[in-house]
Amino acid sequence: MQYCPSVMSGSELPHHPHRLSDALHFLSRFITRPGSIGSVWPSSRQLGEAMIDEIAMQPGDVVVEYGPGTGPFTSVLKERMPKGVEYLGIEFDPELHRNLVRRFPGMRFHHGSAEETPEILAHHKLGPAKFVVSGLPFANMPPTLQRKILKSTRDALRYDGTFRTFTYLLSTLNPSTISFRRLVREHFHEHHTAKTVMINFPPARVLSYSRPVQGD
Ligand SMILES: C[S@@+](CC[C@H](N)C(=O)[O-])C[C@H]1O[C@@H](n2cnc3c(N)ncnc32)[C@H](O)[C@@H]1O
Repeated sequence: MQYCPSVMSGSELPHHPHRLSDALHFLSRFITRPGSIGSVWPSSRQLGEAMIDEIAMQPGDVVVEYGPGTGPFTSVLKERMPKGVEYLGIEFDPELHRNLVRRFPGMRFHHGSAEETPEILAHHKLGPAKFVVSGLPFANMPPTLQRKILKSTRDALRYDGTFRTFTYLLSTLNPSTISFRRLVREHFHEHHTAKTVMINFPPARVLSYSRPVQGD
């Protein structure tokens, strides 16, 4: 099982009044659905910033977020996205989805699975995505599901699109993390480790992939 508790420092709390209630809500969803939630604590603001770092977004671009949860990456996106960018969050958990809709008015959330991103984009009359940022617990997933979501992601991205995800430093040598990293490289022409974020418990590494491989 994978855990992603963040460090809640005293200096961080005043800027993030939702942090404690988010964490408790997240924990309660983990108890209900440990497999698909995959962590007991939401990611830190710092990890959210690293996930979005240096992504150029223009008005008209489509940005998709997988598994927004309680919204640590969503908050950063909300601040950084230029006006006119089309955001779509895809959240599998019905209660987290309801909470996101309440908490981020004006942003669009779909209750569904990242396995069906091209169909979900079509349903919302949106074109291919420039950027997909993922909070999914890939290391907890069976390879068949990892493969299905990666294919869906590749098919949903523009030819010059970028996919970002993260892994925990502690799980770098886990067989499921190794096989996920091998699998994701098969779906993209370019990949690099964007950043390591220590202010997240456990510390995490952001992985960035671009130029999806075309195919079936
Ligand atoms: C590890 S939590 C991360 C939440 C948040 N992004 C963060 O970093 O704190 C994983 C999230 O992915 C959602 N999720 C799991 N499987 C999913 C799927 N197939 N499609 C969309 N969301 C999914 C879970 O409900 C949960 O909100």
